[in-house]
Amino acid sequence: MSFVVAIDGPAGAGKGTITKLVGEKLGLVNIDTGATFRCVALNMIQEHIDIQEEKKIEEMLNKINIEMHTDGKIFLNGEEVTKRIRENDVNRLVSPVSVLPIVRNKLLEVQRKIAEGKNVIMEGRDIGTVVFPNANVKIYLDAAAEERARRRVLQNQEKGIESSYEEVLEGIKDRDKRDSTREIAPLKKAEDAIYVDSTNLSIEQVVEKIIEIIEENK
Ligand code: DC
Repeated sequence: MSFVVAIDGPAGAGKGTITKLVGEKLGLVNIDTGATFRCVALNMIQEHIDIQEEKKIEEMLNKINIEMHTDGKIFLNGEEVTKRIRENDVNRLVSPVSVLPIVRNKLLEVQRKIAEGKNVIMEGRDIGTVVFPNANVKIYLDAAAEERARRRVLQNQEKGIESSYEEVLEGIKDRDKRDSTREIAPLKKAEDAIYVDSTNLSIEQVVEKIIEIIEENK
């Protein structure tokens, strides 16, 4: 039997960083489901497929191959795309793509398969509500939009990308709205998820808190 920790929450709440650190400390395989949506968006860009072209998207999904290696590398149809899927064109396309039912259905299958037979910590928007509603531990990681924007601007600076706080904040609010109001699998806290607000906590404090919650619920 595998052990599943589900970490859901909005963009920029720190899910990626926290999931990686907690996974390393507890020996759980870290699975970033956002990356699977990013791979679909990238594949559409590569094949020049428009968001309206449902038939072409379906054909593309029928032959897509997404691999997540334990070292964190991500492969799309055999090509390493770990960094490529974080670029701006993918950032722009991924949220509208993730609304499409055909994409969500396919990725549900892919995500469950990736986790099969493993002890995992899986991050996304709908892990505790849809992908693994029977997860052993469910956490909803949140932070105020202003704090998430501040963190994203800092992250960008570290990567040498200049960005304005106002623009980043607006982008975050747009994404929150789209992710939480979509019809299928919207971003929302599962009833039995534990709410963690990271607004005023350091990374170490959040990691500690989440490890405590996992240990208590084992
Ligand atoms: O976590 P991220 O920013 O890499 O996610 C990219 C997009 O994918 C995000 O806009 C919402 C979507 N997503 C989703 O709908 N369901 C998930 N389980 C994970 C991500």
